[in-house]
Amino acid sequence: MKIIIINGPNLNLLGKRETAIYGSKSFDDFFVEMQFKYKEIELTFFQSNIEGELIDKLQEVGYSFDGIVLNAAAYTHTSVGIGDAVKAIETPVVEVHISNTFSREDYRHISYIAPNAIGVIAGFGLQSYELAIQSFVSGK
Ligand code: DQA
Repeated sequence: MKIIIINGPNLNLLGKRETAIYGSKSFDDFFVEMQFKYKEIELTFFQSNIEGELIDKLQEVGYSFDGIVLNAAAYTHTSVGIGDAVKAIETPVVEVHISNTFSREDYRHISYIAPNAIGVIAGFGLQSYELAIQSFVSGK
């Protein structure tokens, strides 16, 4: 099973960015833990701060991978292009957020990803990613 985690803008700063909201663990450390724990999965990771690069990656993996765990970060709330890419591809996408976007500012309540995702997981810290991985493993 091939699963990719795709992270959007500013998530490269995890561990040192607004730690009260996003925690103090770096994504690299978390990703190594996930690879160790889910050895049966071919788990890869991509991060970009650039909208078009995220769209390129979705198109690249979207016909061959079994699952995409997507945290488009701020682009979640603004990007028709990423929403269209998620709609276009065949690989199922689970939208994730570290924070509970619905308990935050109104502009974070909008998602251009969610209508085309198979589900949304928000508010469980980095565990949101693991719950998304588990949903693919369990065949949801
Ligand atoms: C985020 C929530 C977004 O609103 C924000 O812009 C982010 C991170 C999250 O994981 O909680 O950068 O996607």
